[in-house]
Amino acid sequence: MEPLPERTAAYRSMMAGRAEVLRRELRQIFPCPSAFVWEMGCGHGHFLAAYAAAHPNEICIGIDIAGDRIARGLRKRDRARLANLHFLHAEARLFLEVLTPAMPISRTFILFPDPWPKSRHHKHRILKPDFLHQLAGRSQPAARLHFRTDFAPYFESASATLAADPRWEVRAEPWPFEQETVFQQRAPTYESASAVLRPAPSPVV
Ligand SMILES: C[S@@+](CC[C@H](N)C(=O)[O-])C[C@H]1O[C@@H](n2cnc3c(N)ncnc32)[C@H](O)[C@@H]1O
Repeated sequence: MEPLPERTAAYRSMMAGRAEVLRRELRQIFPCPSAFVWEMGCGHGHFLAAYAAAHPNEICIGIDIAGDRIARGLRKRDRARLANLHFLHAEARLFLEVLTPAMPISRTFILFPDPWPKSRHHKHRILKPDFLHQLAGRSQPAARLHFRTDFAPYFESASATLAADPRWEVRAEPWPFEQETVFQQRAPTYESASAVLRPAPSPVV
């Protein structure tokens, strides 16, 4: 039987290379410690470009696994001359993995993530307990997580996952910033949820 791709030496070496590129890019964005806002799966960057323009004092990073979308986001950033806006070609979990404590997340946006509607594909959805756990470990106290989707079953499952997570508390807060995304423009309706990071439990002594 063929080994799983993630177990092969070639795969591990490719991932180590990607992680090193990301670390280098992050060192350039963060010459000194700072919190930042990120958008996971930013597409062409419509939302984050508008957010960064409205919040010039916040470092904003959009990431996406689609390189052509990141290239469009970068062109948008350059046209608008937004020094606080960055787009990185990265997979979400690898991005979280390479962050250091000097780069805590203050706010996360996950807007219209891939819904993976078929049951056998639910495992690919990003809003799952392992991702929420990893995100909590990279976020500053009281960090916010904002999630929006037009796929009602995903909204229900993600809301239930968030509600069951001891680190995240679902909050009925106003949506912090409105800017239509490409997928939002096509969506007849959608639902949004926000959550706040609870303090980490104290170690048992
Ligand atoms: C349905 S599109 C939504 C794009 C944008 N947020 C919008 O609302 O228009 C989902 C995006 O997430 C990206 N994506 C999916 N899984 C990802 C992952 N694990 N890490 C980073 N980006 C991811 C896809 O490439 C795609 O651009």
